Amino acid sequence: MTVFAVAPGGPLTGRLSVPGDKSISHRVLMLAALADGTSQVMGLSDGEDVAHTLSIVEALGAGVEVVDGVVSVTGGNLAPADGPLYVGNSGTGIRLLAGMLAGLAFTSVLDGDDSIRRRPMDRVVDPLQSMGADISGVDGSTLAPLTIRGGGLHGTEYAPPMASAQVKGCVLFAGLFADGPTTVVETRPTRAHTEELMAAFGIDVAIGPGGVTVQPGMPAPFAHRVAGDPSQAAFWAVAAAIVAESEVLVENVYGGPVRTGFVDVLARMGADIEHDAVTGDLTVRASSLRGTVVDAAEVPGLVDEVPVLAVAAACAEGETRFCGVGELRVKETDRLATTTSELGAMGAQVRVEGDDLIVVGGPLHGAEVESHGDHRIAMACAVAALVAEGPTVVSGWEAVDTSYPAFGSDLGGLRS
Ligand code: S3P
Repeated sequence: MTVFAVAPGGPLTGRLSVPGDKSISHRVLMLAALADGTSQVMGLSDGEDVAHTLSIVEALGAGVEVVDGVVSVTGGNLAPADGPLYVGNSGTGIRLLAGMLAGLAFTSVLDGDDSIRRRPMDRVVDPLQSMGADISGVDGSTLAPLTIRGGGLHGTEYAPPMASAQVKGCVLFAGLFADGPTTVVETRPTRAHTEELMAAFGIDVAIGPGGVTVQPGMPAPFAHRVAGDPSQAAFWAVAAAIVAESEVLVENVYGGPVRTGFVDVLARMGADIEHDAVTGDLTVRASSLRGTVVDAAEVPGLVDEVPVLAVAAACAEGETRFCGVGELRVKETDRLATTTSELGAMGAQVRVEGDDLIVVGGPLHGAEVESHGDHRIAMACAVAALVAEGPTVVSGWEAVDTSYPAFGSDLGGLRS
């Protein structure tokens, strides 16, 4: 177990780039594995989650070559792997891959770490079974490991009961192999990476108010540069907003639909923040913040940013209420519990009422806190530590490698 010590201090200044978007990286690797030929990916996330997906497509027979940061994937001829496919900590990896493997006419086993084995998988098992998939798991097929005997899928129309881009993406990946069109209908729109990338790589996708419909078919080989991850940029946005006299520019941050809700929320809280729609540059300067209400309809657009937005709220004047954030209970950790306990240990006033998270602004103090194996909890605590009185030690810091191995050195760069 590694620890990360953060002392409060002076302003954060400078420009940096963050890892390539994690959500996009998973999807691009899977689409490259399905495309018959060689695809090239630039700017892939360098976190462990995406490394697991890369190893999985390789285990399934895709050719993988990395030269000067360009990942070449030769796909189109996938075959059974020699053993279980291990996703590590990645909920996106296991759920999207379940959809793809349900279409491939051989048997696969998907497994992950302890956190993955606790997270609900019925949300993908149910729709895949309704498409005719032979897929089973532990505990009434609600948990991983998942055993998938692929092939024989039917098109479907599916309305996920929860707002989840992972479920949408899983069903759309399965739909590529179905005997007819597959439609996913969302009451609350979620991030659009699956359908955007499928359409860009030659799959027949219709995106409309009635849902997303994919026709069966495979992508064509492609070249794709992955934009910077807004979920990682959000840590620097909050850090720059709360540390006096800071000014930070994060380059080339993805700005597509339902991903940058944190920019709107921080702006509403009084942050000095701009996201350039053309370059993707995100610029944030320190300012005083006030509390706000985050509506449930906004949550899919900032679902991973709630822990660090809770840090912003703890540094704001008054109360902030995040409404309808119950989905946070089934992330890498129960983030309603871990946000409350860890920021609470630093003196923040955080409480849960039903599915709402409420934070009241006030002074923070340094503390010994714990990631609980959750990368975003670790990084949110490190950001809070920048303005706390006295030093903070985050244990379980290795969790950060899941998505942002260079977080510590990037923080050092902005402080020097
Ligand atoms: C993701 C969707 C979100 C998010 C996760 C990445 C994706 O999960 O929390 O980190 O890439 O589709 P849900 O769609 O289940 O909310």
